[in-house]
Amino acid sequence: MTEKDFIFQSFPTKIDAGKITWKAPSNIALVKYWGKKPNQIPANPSVSFTLDACATTTTLSFLPLKESAKSFSFDLLFEGQSKKEFKPKIETFFARIEKYLPFLKSYHFTIETSNSFPHSSGIASSASGMAALALCLMGMEEQMNPNITANYFNQKASFLARLGSGSACRSIEGDLIQWGIDETIEGSSNIYAIKYPHSVHKNFKNYHDTILLVHKGQKEVSSTVGHNLMHGHPFAEQRFVQAHNHLRDLQTVFLNGDLDRFVEIVENEALSLHAMMMTSTPYFMLMKPSTLGIIQKIWQFRKASGSKVCFTLDAGANVHVLYPEKEKEDVYQFIKDELIAFCEKGQYICDRIGFGARKM
Ligand code: PMV
Repeated sequence: MTEKDFIFQSFPTKIDAGKITWKAPSNIALVKYWGKKPNQIPANPSVSFTLDACATTTTLSFLPLKESAKSFSFDLLFEGQSKKEFKPKIETFFARIEKYLPFLKSYHFTIETSNSFPHSSGIASSASGMAALALCLMGMEEQMNPNITANYFNQKASFLARLGSGSACRSIEGDLIQWGIDETIEGSSNIYAIKYPHSVHKNFKNYHDTILLVHKGQKEVSSTVGHNLMHGHPFAEQRFVQAHNHLRDLQTVFLNGDLDRFVEIVENEALSLHAMMMTSTPYFMLMKPSTLGIIQKIWQFRKASGSKVCFTLDAGANVHVLYPEKEKEDVYQFIKDELIAFCEKGQYICDRIGFGARKM
């Protein structure tokens, strides 16, 4: 599929007023996307676990306008309240996707959205939020053209979500998702994410992710700024090579279930991502003292117990603690005994690998 395949062949038939609701999950990258080319094309491929509990639910109500408007017409409600400050992001998103959904100026929209996780928990809602909105819009396209296949629906939803926020393209399906071209993964694409196409060892079934909320404030540096700092970064090219290598090594791990190697790759990826931040110009650091405290504790626990628990990080201070199903009691006890003390107000979220977005 190319970009052209997502453009309408003829202007779609108008549909009556209606309402569509989708719930889309967040995702956590194992191999990180950091650095991009124009039009949200990733500089390197990434692979992620789709989450389950952390999700955004969006209801899109649409009302046909008598005449197409000059600008996008919509209201936005976040957790029941009108949110003017979120509108520019949606405006930009609509402008980017209008070419692929030419009906956007023919309707008035009401977008009602809410998150399952606490507001300003430091958990990015852009992935789940953009995915949920893209799915609702695809719901409209499907009503206009009921012949589209489920595969096309998901690919185009991922394609559109990517134009809202890169990593959002990995929040449509589950449970293991790959985005970005790598020759060893057939069907991989830079413009939408796909389900990881090879077999996955049972060790990864029901993998757990307990998210420790270390710092709940606004991030000091947005991921958009961070991605841009990879242009001219002295280590960028090597980092992109490393991501490809990790992705290929993970393919072996997914096949044979080697959790020691899994831990090594995933933690290396998290620290490499933050190393890129700390060595860009200007440099910045999103980890907090508690982030490091948690990492130290995980390393000590692993050494003492032989556990396969590991951590990964997003572009923020919060820590994702990853562990296999068969260790869930021991690791959860360790988290409660030793890690919760590092969390702001003791807050954390128990999540696990999930199977993608759902129509409500
Ligand atoms: O989707 P963005 O532009 O917010 O970038 C996400 C970047 C990371 O979360 C740090 C890595 C990733 O692959 O999700």
